[in-house]
Amino acid sequence: MMADVPYDHPLVAQLRDNPYPLYQRLLAQAPVQWNDVLEAWTLARYADVVGVLTDARFSARRFRSGVDSEEANIARSMLVSDPPDHTRLRALVQKAFTPRMVEQLRPRIIAIVGELLDRIAEQSGTVDLIGELAYPLPVVVIAELLGVPAEDRVKFREWSAVVAASLDPLVPEAVVNRLQDARAALYTYLREIITLRRREPRADLISALVAVEEHGDVLTEPELVIMCMLLLIAGHETTVNLIGNGVLALLRHPEEFARLKADPSLINSGVEELLRFDSPVQLTARIATQSIEIDGHAIAQGARVVTLLGAANHDPAQFADPETLDLGRAPNNHLAFGRGIHFCLGAPLARLEGQIAIGALVRRFPNLTLAGEPERRHQITLRGLSSLPVTISP
Ligand code: HEM
Repeated sequence: MMADVPYDHPLVAQLRDNPYPLYQRLLAQAPVQWNDVLEAWTLARYADVVGVLTDARFSARRFRSGVDSEEANIARSMLVSDPPDHTRLRALVQKAFTPRMVEQLRPRIIAIVGELLDRIAEQSGTVDLIGELAYPLPVVVIAELLGVPAEDRVKFREWSAVVAASLDPLVPEAVVNRLQDARAALYTYLREIITLRRREPRADLISALVAVEEHGDVLTEPELVIMCMLLLIAGHETTVNLIGNGVLALLRHPEEFARLKADPSLINSGVEELLRFDSPVQLTARIATQSIEIDGHAIAQGARVVTLLGAANHDPAQFADPETLDLGRAPNNHLAFGRGIHFCLGAPLARLEGQIAIGALVRRFPNLTLAGEPERRHQITLRGLSSLPVTISP
């Protein structure tokens, strides 16, 4: 859909550079609106977004002509499946990817963060926190968790970035052209690793999923490969933005940075607030399976609905002073990880990585300051920075 819309389209540029003024306008004046460019209804209000994400009449099977097809592999993942397929796929991966297993990663995450911060401490002048901390941490963690060899990481960095760019509501021609190749390369790569683990299982998530597959015919091999693809991409493209956007928000709110330094126990509620304040995943989409009325608007059967998680997280009807960053905010029932049956499977891992990385960074470099304008990535759905220049002066 709209594959020829360039990154400099005004709506795209606005959503990328600073979507919050637009969200405020939508929340105040047009919380349910048909958008000709997106060819979708946009929903901004918290209550409406929750309503759609928890309503089985809205399907997650959101394929776009020219970008996705039902056959395209990632388009068959649990992220874009409805029950009963979704229920089966999610139950299987949940057996292997439990919150307890994530908690066991804590010492390893602390060690990786320690090594990355050591490397930063050795540098003088300006340091790019995306390249030195926000990106490598989740990439190393998900690679180790799945059990993909460290030396292959550079290979799938590019593939993963292309597939992530295809999650945008408007996908430029250049991305569409590279998408099939990237998906195919990632698929072949992961299928080879799965074959190796089938022969010689290890203590990793891929081996655990292979075992699940072999204990019955509930998970086909393509489903297994696609599940690994989804986890690998989610591990590469999301937590980086929690750390990047989160640290930027702290640097732009020195009083909150100082508050966290003075009271490190604020880190858990602090990470929740950073997730709300500048959400790494700004939107998701659903398809109406029947005609449904929302706030007096008739959403036709088959229509696409874009739920603006980033707007809902700034809805004054749900959050007092939504534009204020308050690391102690309570309650904070944000939608950064979605809601309903597709609620982020990786949330416990992302939270743990965010808490450890941001907590340790603030402790280790209490004089951290911004050293220039950060650069934004082009994507809208996954909102984040490509560089975050800082100085760490002792
Ligand atoms: C801060 C980091 C992250 C954020 C903000 C985030 C956000 C989200 C959101 C909003 C959804 C729901 C999408 C929808 O309803 O359409 C989702 C689903 C999902 N996420 Fe995450 N995610 C993050 C990290 C991760 C990580 C690290 C992993 C895996 C290792 C992961 C795996 C998944 C999976 C598998 C789903 C699909 C669940 C389903 O369809 O049932 N996520 N995520």
